[in-house]
Amino acid sequence: MKTNTPLWRRKAVYQVYPRSFKDSNGDGIGDINGIISKLPYLADLGIGIIWLSPCYKSPKMDLGYDISDYLSIDPDYGTMDDFDNLVKEADRLGIKVVMDLVVNHTSDEHPWFVESKKKDSLYRDYYIWRDGKGDNPPNNWTSQFSGPAWDYDPDTKQWYLHLYSKKQPDLNWHNPKVLEEVEKILRFYLDKGVYGFRCDVINQIYKESLEDGKGHAQNGRGVEHYLMKDGNHRILRTLYEDVFSHYDCVVIGETYNVDVPNGIRFLENHELDMFFQFDHVNVDRHPSQIFALPFSAKKFKGILYKWQTSVSWNANYMENHDQPRSVERFGDKGKLYDLSAKALAMLNFTLRGTPFIFEGQEIGMRVYPGFDARKSKDVSCLSIYDIAHKSFHLPNFIAQKIAGLHNRDDSRLPLSWDSGDNAGFSTCRDTWLPVHPNHKDGYNVEDQSKDPESILNFYKKLIRIREGEMSLLEGSFEPLSTKGGLFAYRRRYQDEECLFLLNLTKRGCCLPAYLRHVNGRVLLSTYHDSDPSDMRRLRPYEAILIKLN
Ligand code: GLC
Ligand code: CA
Repeated sequence: MKTNTPLWRRKAVYQVYPRSFKDSNGDGIGDINGIISKLPYLADLGIGIIWLSPCYKSPKMDLGYDISDYLSIDPDYGTMDDFDNLVKEADRLGIKVVMDLVVNHTSDEHPWFVESKKKDSLYRDYYIWRDGKGDNPPNNWTSQFSGPAWDYDPDTKQWYLHLYSKKQPDLNWHNPKVLEEVEKILRFYLDKGVYGFRCDVINQIYKESLEDGKGHAQNGRGVEHYLMKDGNHRILRTLYEDVFSHYDCVVIGETYNVDVPNGIRFLENHELDMFFQFDHVNVDRHPSQIFALPFSAKKFKGILYKWQTSVSWNANYMENHDQPRSVERFGDKGKLYDLSAKALAMLNFTLRGTPFIFEGQEIGMRVYPGFDARKSKDVSCLSIYDIAHKSFHLPNFIAQKIAGLHNRDDSRLPLSWDSGDNAGFSTCRDTWLPVHPNHKDGYNVEDQSKDPESILNFYKKLIRIREGEMSLLEGSFEPLSTKGGLFAYRRRYQDEECLFLLNLTKRGCCLPAYLRHVNGRVLLSTYHDSDPSDMRRLRPYEAILIKLN
């Protein structure tokens, strides 16, 4: 198949969370040499791009999303030589490397911030320092990790803004020096052969004003003053013109609470190549984020269809390092677990856009059973627990429940490579987070590689099928009208067409009359005997991809 489609539209992306992927030196922490050792596995799976969560030098209070030196690698993960080697080895196997770009904030240990604590320093204005209102912070904004978004510095008697933890001070994007510094970082990595960036919380870097926020939210009060403002769009456009347009690369936005008009603007104005929306992963969360809601396949479908039909290209994902594992949320926790994992995989790969896999998703990794929120390694979970328990005096078990909903340790367990000691992740017993006990029950890479019916081998087939079908790669997305948890859509490119049917529920469901006799060839199905030419019902989690004649 000849095509001019850019690589990032054709290939599946695999997110590597370096700390949890593979440990090469026995300290219980994943590292770059570990990643290099598993590149053949990723190549065999059919991955074209890896997105590497941060491995820059960092005190790791937010596990790397708090960078203290953008131009060096954290010793936990290796050296710059190791990193160069990773890019080179990946390239040899036909895999591109995308870095995580975290520039809403730095670590408070970054030399810029250390300098900026001196009132007369040239770096003061790299961050957002303001006088308080009497004894109170400059405004009423709250951090995304809960609690006030400002911290007081007694030496200079001013406050600095942090939309995340107080060890993550926000950069001041009104200062042109900040833009210059970031452009230098981008060129440094692009010149090394890195294929682009996943840009962390990139739709909130520009604070238009510092007026009080309106909401009562315990976290994120003030967003109306910094979410997707004109200045934000202008900066992204400038980065594109100054830097990205000069390289063959991809720019992926993590765009917290993005809406359709801004999403369209990001793409049409060439600010981002694609972006992550959050609506579908919030489907089972109350807007307050304080408790979970039951999953509704119908609502899920509505959200996905909305994005599919509103913007020209989507970054399609079910999981990442901030979200609990998907099958237990959107599929079946019980005996239909594997079946529903495959059904969700087919959904993610047949939507229009670039499919993302978070490490471990391809073997159906689960959330760790019974984590104690108080012992979490996740700063956001700990901070929510503290606020709930200490500030709101909620009893421990309720505080734990609320914080537990946000415990990002859940998806950050070491990847289970085999059924042996420490799941083959490390030779060290004391891995930084425990391995999942189900690595002994077939939920590991080695066992699943050998089993033709495994989730892993299903992903492998799916990746190849998508790559070989122009209608799946570049075709239109045309939803058909169906009820409840039944999905049906067509993907069409010139005279080629695929139809995708999915029952995302644990009960059988009736097909509408017009879908009962479909003339085509099954490319893949979660059951072996799906026969679209004569079919009245779909079984639980039955998903069928049909190439129409
Ligand atoms: C993004 C990252 C998350 C991090 C936060 C602050 O949402 O995905 O892990 O904690 O930004 O950098
Ligand atoms: Ca290690």
